[in-house]
Formats: sequence, structure tokens, C-alpha cells
Amino acid sequence: MVRLAKDELKDLMKKKLNKAGLSEEHAEGVADVLAHADARGVHSHGAMRVEYYAERIAKGGITHNPNFTFEKTGPASGVFDGDNGAGHVAAKEAMDEAIKMAKESGIAIVGVKHISHSGALSYFVDQAAREDLIGLSMCQSDPMVVPYGGSEPYYGTNPIAFAAPGKDGQIVTFDMATTVQAWGKILHARSKKVDIPEDWAVDADGNPTTDPFKVQALVPIAGPKGYGLMMMVDVLSGILLGLPHGNQVSSMYHDLSEGRDLGQLHIVINPSFFTNIDSFKENLTSSMSDLNNMKPAPGFDEVNWPGQRSAAREKAYEENGIEIVDDVYNYLVSDVVHNNNYDNKDPFAE
Ligand code: NAI
Repeated sequence: MVRLAKDELKDLMKKKLNKAGLSEEHAEGVADVLAHADARGVHSHGAMRVEYYAERIAKGGITHNPNFTFEKTGPASGVFDGDNGAGHVAAKEAMDEAIKMAKESGIAIVGVKHISHSGALSYFVDQAAREDLIGLSMCQSDPMVVPYGGSEPYYGTNPIAFAAPGKDGQIVTFDMATTVQAWGKILHARSKKVDIPEDWAVDADGNPTTDPFKVQALVPIAGPKGYGLMMMVDVLSGILLGLPHGNQVSSMYHDLSEGRDLGQLHIVINPSFFTNIDSFKENLTSSMSDLNNMKPAPGFDEVNWPGQRSAAREKAYEENGIEIVDDVYNYLVSDVVHNNNYDNKDPFAE
């Protein structure tokens, strides 16, 4: 394990992405989102993804110098076309547009279409919360989840994120995949050769399995409820934008020379169009304190608000550096752009 300052980590990632072919500006933009994820302890969406992105960039599946366009389609709506460039950068710029619009109109809904993977959604909703706005974001991801009662993968892990401002710069950030566990956790169990809990995933027949090597699909959170949420995400960030949807959504690993055409939707609400912004922030902070002060259940030290642990990690990392596993660090400091590890890989293969 290596500990790096956030800027140092960001710089290594930026150099690698730039070497793979991305413009310096976009390499910096992607690295910023990845460093944010690592700093918050969401390592599944941080530096460990750089080699995959570098391979896709090098093979042309992420446009090196995309032609981003933004069309305002109504008083509070717009569509951002990412030209299959870096999803992280397109989603950030689209959120900037939504923030501008919500400051003027009270609300904004901005669709982001034709993008590659955009990483941890907390980055984008936090942009809104830092401006005293409420941010919501959701996006499509590759089909690896069975619908409730089904035996074939149909939807992605389709995440949803929400952030709102409290007092003194505090932000509540809720950010989750709509599956019980991320695919990375199955890979982790495979690498350790340990069983997984029965409610994480299913085998080829749709039966729950505890053997990580038999996993052929993940399952939605809370059965039909999570399934409904992931369908909602696909409708709002895919069908609404005229993009491939359901099991037509492109795979992360199939043909890295092709753009992914993914969709994302940002919704921004300006609290000052509904209530007094200071009392909004005061009341949210009061809820956060209530939750922290509640008597915890047996086995828990404290009740946390969503995002509290990540915010604490971010603070700790500011002082002590961010932990990066050796393999990822060694790759980042090497001259290698990628090792051809991802193209046409079957995500379920052992
Ligand atoms: P998670 O399960 O680690 O956390 C989900 C939420 O629960 C977070 O808001 C977290 O703050 C909250 N939480 C966790 N423990 C808590 C506790 N003890 N008390 C209170 N709140 C608590 O997140 P998950 O589902 O593994 O997602 C990880 C990341 O993956 C997210 O950033 C998500 O956006 C990203 N993702 C991105 C995808 C893409 O295609 N771009 C696809 C799927 C996920």
C-alpha cells in the first residue's frame, strides 16, 4: 500500500490518461473525479480504473478531442451531447449548465447523452450542493443485473445520487448503485476464493449462489423495489434521451474501440425558490445532528448521515494521504499505457 497526497495521485493519473491520447484538459478533468472517489474511500471508482480507461482511450473508444454541445431546450431543460468523450468531463460540464439554469429558473433538468463511464456520481451532485442547490444524478451502466424474478441480465447497476447543503459547508451526499453489491465485490471474493452471502448474486439459472465463480448476474436492492428504481434510471437517463436502453446498453468490456453511448440525467433544485435557503440549511443540519445524537442499535457506535463516513475519510486523507494498492501505483508510475487486459473480456468469466 502506498500513501499519496491527492494532488500527487491526480497528477499521476492525468499523465497516464494524457499519454493514452486524451487532451491534457480532459485528462485533468477525469483525474479530478477519480481522485475525489479515492479520497472518499470509493476506491472501486478511483485510480484502479485508470488502466481500463487508458486502454479504451488508446483504442479510440473514448473520443480524444470531443465536440461537446449543449442545447437549452426549454426554460429549465437542456441536452448535453458528449460525443462519446470522457464521461467524467461531460457530466461535470453538463452539471455546470444545470447549476446556471437552476440559479435562474429554480429547477433544471439536463440530459447528458453519448458519454463513456462517468465514475462516482457523488462528484456531480456535490457540485450543486456547494452552490447551495440540491443535486440529483443517475446514469445507465452495462447490463449485469437480473430483473426481479428473471434469470437473464437486463439492467445495469444504474446508480442514483443526491446531495444537499447544510450549514457551514456541510453536505449530505447519498450515492448508491441500485444493486445489493457492486461487481467489484464479486471479483474481490473470487480473488480471495471465499463464498459470498446468498443475497448478492445469481447463477446462470437465476438461482441465488454463494460461489463467486458461478455468478452470472447481480441482483437489485430490496427485490422488486430496487428493480423498479433501476428501471426508472434507465427510462430517465436512456429512453428519455433516445439512447440504447435495457439490455441494449453497451458493455464496459465489449470492443474498446467503440464509443459507449451511455446516458445520464442531472436534476437540480434551487431551495431558495421554495423556502428560505438559510432555514433550509439550518434544518438539514439539525436533522444531521438528530441522527448523530440518536442512541445507536446494538452493534453500532453511532448513527451516521449518508456521506458522513466518506466526508470523514476525505478529511483524514487530507492529513495522511490516500491509500493506493501497490499494483495500481506500480502501473501509474510505469511507462506502460495499458496491458491489453480489458478488450472483449467476458465480465463473468473466471
Ligand atoms: P455504498 O454501498 O458504499 O454506499 C451507498 C450509500 O450508503 C452512500 O451514500 C453511503 O454514504 C451510504 N452509507 C454507507 N454506509 C453507511 C452508514 N453506515 N451510515 C449511513 N450511510 C451509509 O455505494 P455503492 O452502491 O457501492 O456505490 C459506490 C459508487 O459506485 C457510487 O459512487 C456510485 O455512483 C458508483 N457507481 C457508478 C456507476 C457508473 O456506471 N458510473 C455504476 C454503479 C455505481
